[in-house]
Amino acid sequence: MIKKIAVLGAGTMGHTIANTFAMAGYPVNLYESFEKVRETVKDKIRGELDFLVREEYLQPEDVQATLDRITLFADLKEAVEDVDYVIEATPEILELKQNLFKQLDEYCPARTIFASNTSSLKLGDMGALLSEERKAKLMISHWYNPGHLIPIAELSFFGNMTEEDFNEVYELYIKAGKQPIKILKDITGMVANRLLHAQAREAFYLMEIGAASADDIDKALKFGPCFRNATTGMLEVADMGGLDVWCAAEDNFFPELSHQEKASDALRGHVEKGELGIKTGKGFFDYPEEKRAQAQEAFQKRLVVQLKASKNYI
Ligand SMILES: NC(=O)c1ccc[n+]([C@@H]2O[C@H](COP(=O)([O-])OP(=O)(O)OC[C@H]3O[C@@H](n4cnc5c(N)ncnc54)[C@H](O)[C@@H]3O)[C@@H](O)[C@H]2O)c1
Repeated sequence: MIKKIAVLGAGTMGHTIANTFAMAGYPVNLYESFEKVRETVKDKIRGELDFLVREEYLQPEDVQATLDRITLFADLKEAVEDVDYVIEATPEILELKQNLFKQLDEYCPARTIFASNTSSLKLGDMGALLSEERKAKLMISHWYNPGHLIPIAELSFFGNMTEEDFNEVYELYIKAGKQPIKILKDITGMVANRLLHAQAREAFYLMEIGAASADDIDKALKFGPCFRNATTGMLEVADMGGLDVWCAAEDNFFPELSHQEKASDALRGHVEKGELGIKTGKGFFDYPEEKRAQAQEAFQKRLVVQLKASKNYI
């Protein structure tokens, strides 16, 4: 049974992964190679926990208890030498992850399961420097940002992992309050990001051809397909509507939908102008300096509402 966890990298994803497991009662060793990040990450997590208390998602007494379960490490060996499951959330650089797993192989007991939160790298490539026995202990465990608020975790079952090991990890994620997905094929983007980008391609294309304003395209998603998809998946929605109707609609729609093989000009145009979204103050929408924190908080508040509601319908 997985009892002790290590998270490698305390950046955007790593600190929320550590936070999630700690909130669920697991002791977590959080390894981070940069001193500056180590110095600030606990305050960052505390801020996120305090926010969850204000949103009545967490009890006030759980804040300190959660923080106490997270131990920071500057030394990799010390962080991983007695853990059952280690998930890395370090930068998306293949050589870095390959070398990290090689080091883990030296430092961890044979039972330890290795996971990567990679968004785009192949499992086989990341484990290239490992022995066959260790490769069977390597998997992808892909989270969504912000990791402590979005329930999904995509777990790979396409390496040589035994069913027993996979089920242990699956069980861990259930206990941590996640909604794990078992991914059977090694496909780029796994499942959730493919669904996301299929929809994003069309949304950006609709902007490109001026079909509606940015406000209205997002409104159509929030109050149309995504309103339904927040509670009912695409396949079930199709069943509800009638597969004959969907089949006829797709024959008519598909020739008209975006078939672009590169990111759309609407998206690239903003990037080329340095308009990268909220972090630069402008993207599809404007985020004046004085309103950015408010916009971020409003985004997170909506996620907490959704998180609370989802507990009742899943
Ligand atoms: N950001 C996202 O939305 C998102 C979503 C899902 C998956 N991912 C994946 O998660 C991983 C991490 O992404 P991120 O956005 O958290 O990156 P990030 O840059 O925010 O964080 C990476 C952290 O790793 C630290 N680091 C660098 N080298 C290290 C090393 N050798 N050992 C330990 N720590 C090291 C950095 O100091 C940094 O704190 C990537 O593989 C990425 O593809 C990101």
